[in-house]
Amino acid sequence: MLTHHQADLQRLFDARVPRYTSYPPANHFSATAGGENQAAWLASLSDDDAISLYVHIPFCRRLCWFCACRTQGTSNLRPVAAYVKDVLHEIGLVAARMTARPSLSRLHLGGGTPTILDASLAKTLLTGIFDAFDPGEDFEFSVEIDPTEASEAALRMLAEFGMNRASIGVQDFEPAVQSAIGREQSFAQTRRAVKILRKAGVRSLNVDLLYGLPHQTDETLARSLHKVLDLAPDRIALYGYAHVPWMSKRQSMIEAATLPQAQQRFELAEVARALLLQSGFTEVGIDHFARPGDGLALARDAGRLRRNFQGYTDDTAETLIGLGASAISRFAGGYCQNAAATSAYSRMVRADRLAGQRGFVLSSADRLAARMIEQLMCHFTLDTGGLEAEFPGARGDIASATRRLLDTWPDLCRYEAGRVVIARRGRPLIRVIAATLDRFVTPGMSHSLAV
Ligand SMILES: C[S@@+](CC[C@H](N)C(=O)[O-])C[C@H]1O[C@@H](n2cnc3c(N)ncnc32)[C@H](O)[C@@H]1O
Ligand code: SF4
Repeated sequence: MLTHHQADLQRLFDARVPRYTSYPPANHFSATAGGENQAAWLASLSDDDAISLYVHIPFCRRLCWFCACRTQGTSNLRPVAAYVKDVLHEIGLVAARMTARPSLSRLHLGGGTPTILDASLAKTLLTGIFDAFDPGEDFEFSVEIDPTEASEAALRMLAEFGMNRASIGVQDFEPAVQSAIGREQSFAQTRRAVKILRKAGVRSLNVDLLYGLPHQTDETLARSLHKVLDLAPDRIALYGYAHVPWMSKRQSMIEAATLPQAQQRFELAEVARALLLQSGFTEVGIDHFARPGDGLALARDAGRLRRNFQGYTDDTAETLIGLGASAISRFAGGYCQNAAATSAYSRMVRADRLAGQRGFVLSSADRLAARMIEQLMCHFTLDTGGLEAEFPGARGDIASATRRLLDTWPDLCRYEAGRVVIARRGRPLIRVIAATLDRFVTPGMSHSLAV
């Protein structure tokens, strides 16, 4: 039985576990699944389905050392323009496999840096997207924005096409931290982008921040947070910095010895959390904070919060179609990831082939595990009654998952009114707790730290 004195906490915080933006995580995708199912999964969609689109733009003018995203550097727009053409071609290939025309629930442009597109490229891309797909009711369109790489004309063009949510990368405003992570960005540059977005009518702004960065202390983090609060965002994503130089080579520019250790990371997260709660934000899941009336907070309160590759979402569409190099699609039957290298992706699309290359076919047991892990990550509970209704015939598996959680975490889980509830103090460890239900977790696997 586990007791949670200091040493045990330290060991658990040091655990390396998936972030569970999907189950199973993408490192379990295989070359024999997904790609070959993609056409059939697309054909199985009906007019009544809602779908969401994720478009990956894998280019940046600067390559920040801390960044673990799939991206590549470019000093000019030539490769970006060629890539936009490939994405438009891919849209044609995908739409041709769909016999139905389901409506769009969400469109998200992510990267890399989508705002590297100038106004004219943004217009070309969005015209192609909206020619092929029709926005549904409550459609939302969000874009990841690097304030140092976002022209006013491009931002206004995105807004003209209906961008109503923007996610602004900040990470940290402290100069010493910025220079240690290879990302310089002034408050003035950031404020300028915020002003343009608000003026263009974008109603919801998110800011991305990181804790666990080199030279961060409680004081520097609080200072950065106050600056962020001056920007009046509606949401804040506060991610733990994932130092995974074996996956993201540029992170080797960051001196490992300068990184806060597990206990310090935990304290940094707690300092930020207290400050944000005091400032009127509410907590959503493990790493998001939202103003009480914000869509994520409402989804949490109504039990509708979901998890996807971008983190938390209030999107209810079951199908997500990923476009562009390395983008992942999620269908009822499983996951399909496009060729990761831009060159391989472009070759496939130009040869009129769907770009899916690897993936995972979900069994009914995987689908149940995925839902249970999502519930834990979103609501810190396992709703056994709800699961039994959603997965008729899985009562035995749900009961055994319940037992496993209660037996493994007797100090942190309790059973009450048809739910397994994780104690408040167990929330920072939710990824470790969720891993109890993950049949793929083996000791010694390489993921990021649990907090
Ligand atoms: C595609 S990136 C940023 C978008 C845009 N290019 C920018 O720089 O503002 C999306 C977010 O991923 C998060 N991220 C990137 N690398 C990370 C890492 N190693 N650990 C945790 N979060 C990371 C950052 O918070 C970042 O804002
Ligand atoms: S943080 Fe943004 S700008 Fe920096 S490398 Fe990553 S995607 Fe590119």
